[in-house]
Amino acid sequence: MAKTEQRVALVTGSAQGIGAAIAEELAADGMKVVVADVNAAGAQAVADRIDGVAKTLDVSDPERVAAVVGEIVDEFGRIDVLVNNAALVPLTPWADITFEEWRKVMSVNLDGIYLVTHAVTEVMGKAGYGRIVNIASNTFVAGTPDCAHYVATKGASIGLVRGLAGELGKLGITINAVAPGIIASEGVLSGPHAAGFDYVVPMQAINRRGVPADVAPAVAFLASEKAEWITGQTLVVDAGHTRN
Ligand SMILES: NC(=O)c1ccc[n+]([C@@H]2O[C@H](COP(=O)([O-])OP(=O)(O)OC[C@H]3O[C@@H](n4cnc5c(N)ncnc54)[C@H](O)[C@@H]3O)[C@@H](O)[C@H]2O)c1
Repeated sequence: MAKTEQRVALVTGSAQGIGAAIAEELAADGMKVVVADVNAAGAQAVADRIDGVAKTLDVSDPERVAAVVGEIVDEFGRIDVLVNNAALVPLTPWADITFEEWRKVMSVNLDGIYLVTHAVTEVMGKAGYGRIVNIASNTFVAGTPDCAHYVATKGASIGLVRGLAGELGKLGITINAVAPGIIASEGVLSGPHAAGFDYVVPMQAINRRGVPADVAPAVAFLASEKAEWITGQTLVVDAGHTRN
């Protein structure tokens, strides 16, 4: 039973970068946002800024996912929006991807989506309403090299959106993907990905660096009541880098 009139949104991996911008956008739209991240201090800082709630969460940990979803339901009685944003973004040539690294990326980027979505759709299904947005990547369209495991998980997240939309539609839940291009998040700026701006920005139709706030409005629209008639889709948000 809902204990608040406010819509409640769970955004994974939202202590920084695109996830934090999404959390801010959803809060600005009037939602109570649960900022969930392995980085507890970062999650708390974002939650404090937006009058949200911080949860320490590793999306690949089944027990922790069940506990956090249970806590949200106990506290608010509802979860209206889920944004599956948490991901590892490694840059590793194929020859150097060990099976251990492969499994690690699958477990966070793909098993994590399964675990959180499976738990949350049970709650949304009972309420007869839900909005789920997977943060995919335009690397799936562009075929970006040196991150084949990552691209495989992003393709799988789009596959899940397509495969699950029909079952969830019967429950009043929509599920879509947003596929950003390269974005100046903390993660990208602190690693070798940052070099990618030099060759991607000239290929974009809009020739400047993307920032997390460029992605958040598209997610917020798909997470809104207004997007009721859109499901099973992928929206590419990359300043026209890829055009399909
Ligand atoms: N930045 C880009 O260029 C870009 C482009 C396309 C897609 N994306 C996607 O956008 C999303 C966010 O990317 P970003 O660049 O903001 O990343 P980022 O590295 O800046 O932030 C990722 C956040 O996820 C958290 N996280 C990592 N593993 C986690 C786990 N197991 N459980 C919970 N939280 C975890 C991190 O602590 C961090 O706060 C990812 O899904 C990424 O694949 C990013």
